[in-house]
Amino acid sequence: MFLDVLCCNMTQTFRIKGLGGKKILSGELSPHGAKNAVLKVLAATALFSESIEISNIPDIEDVNSMILLLEKSGFFIKRLGARRLVCQPPRKTAARINTDIAKKLRASIVLTGPFLSRYGKISFPHPGGCVIGERPIDLFLSAFQKIGARVSRNKDYYTINAPKNGLRGANIFFENISVTATETLMLAAILARGETILSNCAMEPEIKYLAEFLNSCGARITGAGTPTICVIGGELLRNTKNIVYKTPPDRIETGSFLILGALCARDVTIKNCIPEHAASTIAILERMGVSLNIGKNYIKITNDFSGKGKKHFLATGVKTHEYPGFPTDLQALMTVFLTQASGEALVFETIFEGRLNYIELLNRMGARITSMDQHRILVKGPTPLRGRKLESPDLRAGLAYVIAALVAKGTSFIHNANYIDRGYEKIDERLREIGADIERV
Ligand code: EPZ
Repeated sequence: MFLDVLCCNMTQTFRIKGLGGKKILSGELSPHGAKNAVLKVLAATALFSESIEISNIPDIEDVNSMILLLEKSGFFIKRLGARRLVCQPPRKTAARINTDIAKKLRASIVLTGPFLSRYGKISFPHPGGCVIGERPIDLFLSAFQKIGARVSRNKDYYTINAPKNGLRGANIFFENISVTATETLMLAAILARGETILSNCAMEPEIKYLAEFLNSCGARITGAGTPTICVIGGELLRNTKNIVYKTPPDRIETGSFLILGALCARDVTIKNCIPEHAASTIAILERMGVSLNIGKNYIKITNDFSGKGKKHFLATGVKTHEYPGFPTDLQALMTVFLTQASGEALVFETIFEGRLNYIELLNRMGARITSMDQHRILVKGPTPLRGRKLESPDLRAGLAYVIAALVAKGTSFIHNANYIDRGYEKIDERLREIGADIERV
């Protein structure tokens, strides 16, 4: 099943008919379950003595890849429909992460923590994923050594062994704030002897949500969602109350739809979302003049250009930052927004050194973006965009091109649509529902 999904996606292209700057999309969009939440709870199932049920799963390729990785390690996964599954971890496993799949999936690295602490050993390749920088794993390797594991490396392949009597708790300071390193070590510490204190942790809401679920199954984690997480190690987790992990709505989808709506919509409502998780994006868009009506679990975007003179948004500088700051995953989309705002603005990508590789094609569409260095670009707007052939370099820049194509005048073709499918479920169908002229060819 997985391979034929992969093959059919390889030749996918989106054809998009641009709106030529008109803001006429209208209707409702709902974010699906968060990719970067569900991939980690799938890894965490290794810490349980029995099966775990997960719901509100997004139907995206990265989830299929993670499921395949687990099945190849002896996990039994039963699908209960498109968005639900039960995952039963094995008592023993060879704990070798499949190279071909791990090379496509950065989240595969999160398996190392629970596998090491449950099965005592893990062999894996340097993880793959979006080409947005070097993406080292030094924080993981040095932290594993701190909790007593032995790390050996053969070129691009690592083998890590826990001591015979298991991992022991330690004080770990992350020199860089890393989302997956925080999650991986939090999971490893659950079966380590004694107390583990993780400092300078990432504070993404998915981390807090995961810790709360694990605590309801017997884990003893405090501080998740703050810079300091403390874990008291213990036995395998047991889901005695049969709690189902319900994947939270994807805050990056919510932010993506906000930017799309601000640029192309007459009125679009994002439903079943958590506005607080998009606070940084909301603050930036409102600062630039976007009118948003924010409810408990919805955000309504209205653009009222009823002929009272063309009103442009006012460009202001944007800097990416770890949560709760402006997310790097929305950086490319915000650049597209700035091409349509009045004025000059600096976009400062502070987290990844290779995440500005999409600007050339935007300039060929008519944008005026100047590269300052590998972390900063200067965007001058507003500039009308013209449709053209585009090739998405990664998942998030791919969606930025979709938005640019919708803003543009004329037709665009976006190749490598499978990159976009990795993180946005059936995005073409969902955008058609609000009036976008987009189809797979
Ligand atoms: C997670 O990646 C997300 N992926 C990314 O989303 C997201 O962009 C990123 O966090 C930042 O928010 C998943 O959760 C699967 P990092 P991650 O470790 O954990 C450096 C998407 O599109 N670093 O937080 O890999 C690293 O180079 C993806 O959904 C080290 O130096 O990112 C970077 O500069 C793209 N050593 C910074 O930390 C390490 O050992 C943050 O990276 C690890 C990371």
